[in-house]
Amino acid sequence: MTDIRDDVREGFAALYGYEPSGIWSAPGRVNLIGEHTDYNEGFVLPLAINRRTVLALGLREDRIARVASAFADEVVEIDLAELSPERLSGWAAYPLGVAWALGERGADLAAVPGFDIFIESDVPVGAGLSSSAAIESAVAIALNDVWQLGLDRSTLALVGQLAENKVVGAPTGIMDQSASLLGRKDSAVFLDCRTLDAQIIDLGFEAAGLVLLIIDTGVSHSHATGGYAERRASCELGARELGVSALRDVSVDDLPRAREVLDDVTFRRVRHVVTENQRVLDTVRTLREQGAGAIGDLLDASHVSMRDDFEISVAELDLAVETAQSNGALGARMTGGGFGGAAIALIRAEDLSRLQVAIDGAFAEHGYGRPDTFVVTAAQGASREP
Ligand code: GLA
Repeated sequence: MTDIRDDVREGFAALYGYEPSGIWSAPGRVNLIGEHTDYNEGFVLPLAINRRTVLALGLREDRIARVASAFADEVVEIDLAELSPERLSGWAAYPLGVAWALGERGADLAAVPGFDIFIESDVPVGAGLSSSAAIESAVAIALNDVWQLGLDRSTLALVGQLAENKVVGAPTGIMDQSASLLGRKDSAVFLDCRTLDAQIIDLGFEAAGLVLLIIDTGVSHSHATGGYAERRASCELGARELGVSALRDVSVDDLPRAREVLDDVTFRRVRHVVTENQRVLDTVRTLREQGAGAIGDLLDASHVSMRDDFEISVAELDLAVETAQSNGALGARMTGGGFGGAAIALIRAEDLSRLQVAIDGAFAEHGYGRPDTFVVTAAQGASREP
């Protein structure tokens, strides 16, 4: 952490030739449970992780915005007056998309000063750990500070989502930015995606001797194309046919009727969302009443639902989950939007290395590329760095 902070400060000064006014950072996230429930106005339970995007920002006297990063060669430059979704593309769509989205949410882009930003990150890209939400959230809190906008964190999460939806072009929900902005150490964020009411839930992994392992399959995915939008459309169709504004309003008890009304595919998409919402509520209750050691079955059931009903898993994710389950994990599931990315396994610390070896072996045996496995802990959300 300290290292990235120093790197970013030095990278900024070397590139722009002056000292930044400050350093801000925001974490990636992993979702413990509650998948594809956010845009159905349901419940999610993600945590911010100990991998962060860090940026240095300096205000300018003119109205130019420049962004650069350690992971791209170019410096992208635009006049604030010209910011629009059509003008932004590539990686710069994330940071500059946030500047545009702040304008949509109340910032007077004709009155604020320009800025220079330099970004570095240790959130792995393409692993389903929301490296993009980490950039959006870091930029959102930084500009909120230096432009003195006074927006609260829920609004900043909506700003990040707007950038993602309208500038990047991915029809994603509110979970990732909320986790990155609201996360707390050793805790998960229990978010009601309809009201945006957020409660901090103690995870107690360490006290229970448990760790959360990420198994990044290396299978890449994009939510700007294909399956993600299709699933979202199926959910909206299901809600319309059931006469509700969002699937949040359908309960497990309503499923027999839904089966009569809906075609088989739509019914299974709906059943995933409805049962997943219930699993989030059950996980929160179990964490509170019995502790983390008791949530494994809920994680396993979530994976089955995504594999069979929502059909967003891939063979590598299924293999990661099955290998984890048969090598000591209390529970395991794919996490994030699906079609690639990572799985999580909740496991006793002493069983961790055995599982990592088993996963490497299973992937090699199937002829799959070597997965990246690493432990994450729940970390503090976006913040200004000292
Ligand atoms: C992606 C999206 C989120 C959420 C998840 C699935 O991460 O960005 O909004 O929909 O997929 O739970």
